Amino acid sequence: MKPYLIAPSILSADLARLGEDVENVLKCGADLIHFDVMDNHYVPNLTFGAPVCKALREYGITAPIDVHLMATPVDSLVQDFAKAGATSITFHGEASLHIDRTLQLIRDNGCQAGLVFNPATPLSYLDYVMDKLDMILLMSVNPGFGGQSFIPATLDKLRQVRQRIDDSGFDIRLEVDGGVKINNIAQIAAAGADMFVAGSAIFDAPDYKKVIDDMRAELAK
Ligand code: DX5
Ligand code: ZN
Repeated sequence: MKPYLIAPSILSADLARLGEDVENVLKCGADLIHFDVMDNHYVPNLTFGAPVCKALREYGITAPIDVHLMATPVDSLVQDFAKAGATSITFHGEASLHIDRTLQLIRDNGCQAGLVFNPATPLSYLDYVMDKLDMILLMSVNPGFGGQSFIPATLDKLRQVRQRIDDSGFDIRLEVDGGVKINNIAQIAAAGADMFVAGSAIFDAPDYKKVIDDMRAELAK
């Protein structure tokens, strides 16, 4: 297994002071930033696009930025985000007309590529694209909003994906997104995840460092 990564979702950050808040959460021990792009079409909420990613880079954020596209169409956004400084780009299979092509496009634009599965989306796409994946993201809530509760069926799905990754021999991260908290992160890791997105658990807390330290302590148990 790869070292665990904690990725705060800026969906729950202070958007009026985004640069400062991102800088702060990184100083408090976050490994990277998770950037939720919502289009009020694929998901019923609207957030931010590539100019905001670019602004974070211009502000001086050098940590990896993990762009989670909950938007359709996907391909034009891939190019925009790659230019804006994204490190990795993940998208939902249902949102792309040509999944294989989109995965290739992400790598061709110099970013790590990942496919996202909603809680009830079957894993069958994985039969065909393991060689084109740098990461697999399992949603543990329905996408669109922060602050929802972790869906327990995700644990079994994580175990299935962990097995597929290990059997494939490819170097693929297994990311989980939604309802990740101090009190469930160890169980999620035991099921096979190695990258943890957490929005409200971190940004709604008064002390980001304490939450991240507590999460790492749980992961070390
Ligand atoms: C949901 C987003 C998540 C969300 C996680 O659609 O993809 O990244 O912000 O938020 P929490 O950790 O609050 O569930
Ligand atoms: Zn996300």
